Amino acid sequence: MAFLFLCDAVRGAVFAETFSKLLPDVSFAMAADEVAPEDVRFIMTWNPPPDLHRYPNLRAVFCIGAGVDQFAGSVMPPGVKLVRMVDDGITRMVAEYVAMAVLALHRNLHHYIDHQRRHHWMAVTPQVQAAARRVSIMGTGVLGQAALDKLKVFGFDLSGWNRSQHSIEGVSCYNGADGLREMLYRTDILVCLLPLNAGTAGILNGDLFAALPGGASLVHAGRGRQLDVDALMSSLDTGRLSGAFLDVTDPEPLPADHRLWKHPRVVITPHVAAITQADSAALTTVNNIKRLISGRDPIGIVDPSALSWDGSRTAAEHIKAI
Ligand code: GLV
Repeated sequence: MAFLFLCDAVRGAVFAETFSKLLPDVSFAMAADEVAPEDVRFIMTWNPPPDLHRYPNLRAVFCIGAGVDQFAGSVMPPGVKLVRMVDDGITRMVAEYVAMAVLALHRNLHHYIDHQRRHHWMAVTPQVQAAARRVSIMGTGVLGQAALDKLKVFGFDLSGWNRSQHSIEGVSCYNGADGLREMLYRTDILVCLLPLNAGTAGILNGDLFAALPGGASLVHAGRGRQLDVDALMSSLDTGRLSGAFLDVTDPEPLPADHRLWKHPRVVITPHVAAITQADSAALTTVNNIKRLISGRDPIGIVDPSALSWDGSRTAAEHIKAI
């Protein structure tokens, strides 16, 4: 029984060591190693490998990241599960990133960065207290809930939106298209942690920004294709939005001459909210393989219907849908 690791060699070495200690019965192979296709039961990868049918005994493909939108349109061979990374390391880092960006926007850092560039000593007033700052998270799965937990400590007025109905202690919860509008009307800092799929491509568009109170701001750590950059730029220029933290763009890397780099109130980080850490991810994967071997579903199993999207839906279509 073999586990084939198709990601970088540095993290592969950590996985190999963890597997040798905790799963000695599963042989560990990297891309360059010779492995008989019929021995391969599990594959770890970022991009969908084109040749999954080569492995007649494959049981699961593990994605090394939390997001699996890169698998859209791909078809798993019958009986093969796709599993995304649901890992404490990723969860902790995303929660930290959201807390950092929300605090920065709450304390007007985006304005002060702009003032500093212009050598301009000026306080932004009034200083809003956390209890009066309405922070809303789109996407209240594992990552969103961890971020909400961190934000609770500061006393923000919190809301969360998800496709389906849910409840989280201390958080006003919304769902569905009407729920989204209702939440946006009472949001000062909007955080997007949604996965990219047919329902979320282009969701951060002019219509959505128009539903926010004037001067609201955005933290985007979902996927670049969810954001309509023209709408963001014009909302920033008219003052509808006061600032944005973007960890994701389309394309990535963002080209050096892209106008987003130059906007005085946009802070860009290069998709680093969470980079999968090999030590915790290896333990998570070992645990999932043990679950599979004992006949249980792994944690993070992806609903195959989420893959049927061909990636073609446009932002304009989405505006009609929300
Ligand atoms: C990062 O964006 C991930 O999907 O893990």
